Amino acid sequence: MATAEAISRTGLPRLHHFDPLFNYSSSFVSVKPMNGRSRRSRRNHCSKALVYCPAKVYACRGSIDPLSFGRINKSAGRPGSSRCKCQQQSETFGSDGGGMSIPVFGVNGGGQDFSLLQQLKPENGDVAVGGNGGLLDGNGTAATSTDVQLKGSSTNPIEDEAWDLLRASVVYYCGNPIGTIAANEPNSSNVSNYDQVFIRDFIPSGIAFLLKGEYDIVKNFILYTLQLQSWEKTMDCYSPGQGLMPASFKVRTVPLEGDENASEEVLDPDFGEAAIGRVAPVDSGLWWIILLRAYGKCSGDLSMQERVDVQTGIKMILKLCLADGFDMFPTLLVTDGSCMIDRRMGIHGHPLEIQALFYSALLSAREMLAPEDGTAELITVLNNRLVALSFHIREYYWVDMRKLNEIYRYKTEEYSYDAVNKFNIYPDQIPPWLVEFMPSKGGYLIGNLQPAHMDFRFFSLGNLWSIVSSLANMEQSHAILDLFESKWEDLVAEMPFKICYPALEGQEWRIITGSDPKNTPWSYHNGGSWPTLLWQLTVASIKMNRPEIAERAVELVEKRISRDNWPEYYDTKRGRFIGKQSRLFQTWSIAGYLVSKQLLANPDSAKILMNEEDSEIVNAFSCMIGSNPRKQRGRKAVKQPFIV
Ligand code: GLC
Repeated sequence: MATAEAISRTGLPRLHHFDPLFNYSSSFVSVKPMNGRSRRSRRNHCSKALVYCPAKVYACRGSIDPLSFGRINKSAGRPGSSRCKCQQQSETFGSDGGGMSIPVFGVNGGGQDFSLLQQLKPENGDVAVGGNGGLLDGNGTAATSTDVQLKGSSTNPIEDEAWDLLRASVVYYCGNPIGTIAANEPNSSNVSNYDQVFIRDFIPSGIAFLLKGEYDIVKNFILYTLQLQSWEKTMDCYSPGQGLMPASFKVRTVPLEGDENASEEVLDPDFGEAAIGRVAPVDSGLWWIILLRAYGKCSGDLSMQERVDVQTGIKMILKLCLADGFDMFPTLLVTDGSCMIDRRMGIHGHPLEIQALFYSALLSAREMLAPEDGTAELITVLNNRLVALSFHIREYYWVDMRKLNEIYRYKTEEYSYDAVNKFNIYPDQIPPWLVEFMPSKGGYLIGNLQPAHMDFRFFSLGNLWSIVSSLANMEQSHAILDLFESKWEDLVAEMPFKICYPALEGQEWRIITGSDPKNTPWSYHNGGSWPTLLWQLTVASIKMNRPEIAERAVELVEKRISRDNWPEYYDTKRGRFIGKQSRLFQTWSIAGYLVSKQLLANPDSAKILMNEEDSEIVNAFSCMIGSNPRKQRGRKAVKQPFIV
């Protein structure tokens, strides 16, 4: 659907009143297609007009400097270049409530920040920052000891280093912090798209800033990505539904039309149309809703979620997710690679990670939706889905010793309304590894469920977020943590922790991954160990009042992660090696560690991310367990359309 049509149809008021940075009167908003993309270029005028704020046109212009995408223009003051007019404000961003001024490190600022930091890192992995630290601020001058103290240095040098690296990964748009770059590895020749701001990767960065009291970057991120939601996106001649959030975006500096000496910054999103494998990022919109709620809870600024444009954004995401399709299941049907695992790994269908995020986003959205005409119907649809989804996951995804034994004795080919083996699972599917792996105490939610197919692999993020969102019930949540503890050597070993267990090997690897050389057994998505998952483990273990599990994992991380330069992932069964193709200085490894430390220091703050068990859902759930599907036939389900 073309953007303009969609807007008039959905009555998007935001595009005409857009002022995302209403505190920054000098912000210039240019979200427009990139040159060289023919289809987009044709829509240039339209797209630009959509977010053009006529009352406040201040171009973020400087000389054309391809290396200065989205960051403070370090060349300011040099002959032949001009300073971005929005710059001054950004240098005092990060108000901590007390108007604190934070030195801007900006995206790699010529790489100096990093190399110096690395020189300062002693062999043993401790980092000699703090004090005056010798770090450079955004203007290339040395930060003073007061600056560093103002940034809230801790007594832990690894934490101090992580904060410096996180700040160095901040990306600026027209001088305002807007996100964090995925990996900020100095002198890397193959950056691929790791120089972009990924929505999912920014979540731990955003949480770290929120918990530090620095709200502006999160606010900017939420509002600018909201603008990208309405972007025209196409893959060849096909456009996906309105409401999709990009996987990532980049701030580019492009020549200003009609003035060859000037440039402007533009946001260039990727909805999967450039991504490897052309995967649609289903998780982005769900994470966006989760972060929006966390922002409101942490900052107390509820006016953000009450804005008409933000309300519309929430509804557009919901509309896309709740649209009717051919499904028999309440779970969201997606393609392979639509979440953190963003390449072929055999998780197409109804992967747990997406379902947990979906559930969490539905609950969070319900909390934030303003009561108004049209919302009541949406809430009804949403509530029905919540009940059905939690029933489905808790009943059919759950495995423990008892359930496994039940599956082992399943009868098959049951044609009836009250079949025990509803999905016609052949018991021979129980993999030999699972017979050994399943502890007598503990259990977990399987990775995926389809007709005649249970994907028994253990996926960490899906299980952890099921605890956080209360998609798993209390008993199941404890059992998942029990499994983590009893299978520590398999799931954690030397580095927290496996993205999934076990790895696909041999013929299975060939068929399921398509012989992907990046996803070889015990590497990357195929059983690799991802330090970023630490923060989700921390929220889950705090929620269940078992923080010692996260503390144990943090201790392990601290032994190596700084010395290893903050890798994206580790390889091998025990997580002993830095991943074959792992990026270093991966921002969500850094931010994930920081969030864990912040949450463990102040466990109450984890509430900004949790969803509590909903008593209405529990009631509806018990009714469903007792119900006979035959009696329900012919009864009209409550299914109402809703208007966005
Ligand atoms: C890889 C990961 C993905 C992440 C991206 C940027 O593609 O699979 O989850 O968002 O890198 O870090």
